[in-house]
Amino acid sequence: DLTQNEMEVRITQIKEQLGEKLFIPGHHYQRDDVIQFADSAGDSLQLAQICADNEKAEHIVFCGVHFMAETADILTTDKQKVYLPDMRAGCSMADMADIFQTDRAWEALEKLFGETIVPLTYVNSTAAIKAFVGKNGGATVTSSNAHAMVQWAFTQKERILFLPDQHLGRNTAFDVGVPLNEMAVWDPINDKLEFEGSVEDIKVVLWKGHCSVHEKFTIQNTIDVRNQYPEMRIIVHPECSREVVALADDSGSTKNIIDKINEAKPGSQWAVGTEMNLVNRLIKTHPDKHIISLNPSMCPCLTMNRIDLPHLLWSLEGIVNGETINQIIVDEETTKDAILALNRMLERA
Ligand code: 13P
Ligand code: SF4
Repeated sequence: DLTQNEMEVRITQIKEQLGEKLFIPGHHYQRDDVIQFADSAGDSLQLAQICADNEKAEHIVFCGVHFMAETADILTTDKQKVYLPDMRAGCSMADMADIFQTDRAWEALEKLFGETIVPLTYVNSTAAIKAFVGKNGGATVTSSNAHAMVQWAFTQKERILFLPDQHLGRNTAFDVGVPLNEMAVWDPINDKLEFEGSVEDIKVVLWKGHCSVHEKFTIQNTIDVRNQYPEMRIIVHPECSREVVALADDSGSTKNIIDKINEAKPGSQWAVGTEMNLVNRLIKTHPDKHIISLNPSMCPCLTMNRIDLPHLLWSLEGIVNGETINQIIVDEETTKDAILALNRMLERA
């Protein structure tokens, strides 16, 4: 059993030994002790772009969650290997949509809407769903480009199926001008469309999925902050519910939240509604600003936090020893279709 310091020394040695053969992308929600070793830190869009552009690294050790590592494998060459240090680092939102449910939903929606609907999937989804979306003329989106992608989708078809996050879908569609009463919800457990009114009026079908971390930011949290800190600005990730986003002063993707706080005046006050590691890092990097979590009990993403130093080191030692530990491989057939969906996004991102 190594101490934290010993693990850090060994990771540093391996990084020096492997040089450019090794690349470690790290998502902003990763723990501090892990993100310090990231060659690039970013949100899901930036990391996808960085991996797509990297042709040198033979080994990509992805410090993030499973769907991000799958995306990296899809966007890199056959010679490059992608690893996830802990296979249990999934995403509870991505788990809320599987390909069988998606096929059933699509069949039902095609019956209702014929050729007038196009699918969009948040990157927080399985490779199989990205492939389904690619095959059906749709694209992936991230929280950073959701507005542009929803607008693009409406240039393709009259209607959109947005999966798997109902909140990002609802918040984005609302921002681009779709009234809430023209949005329906698809319940994948009961294979049922939830909508009151005439189906011809539906412009967006939202998959009934959500992020268990961002759902913890509540209306009450916004009321409490307003009472306690009347000067404070509330900024939340669009994975928060419509009600919470409406009560906030601002909403934005992970990158957008970071940029806004970087640009803010010293002395400004912020209540941030997003993952705990990022909020804590913002607090540490901006001692001149008063920053708190919108939910005082802090909201960690448990799966992001599964990537820790022992797992990172284990992955790296595997590479040094020529073993393949936790490699993420998306099969050729899935890659071929999923890349269509990803490229439609990356061309516009
Ligand atoms: P970003 O697209 O903002 O990186 O978000 C990914 C994610 O999982 C947010 O919960
Ligand atoms: Fe998934 Fe939410 Fe964690 Fe992001 S924060 S990886 S959406 S569970």
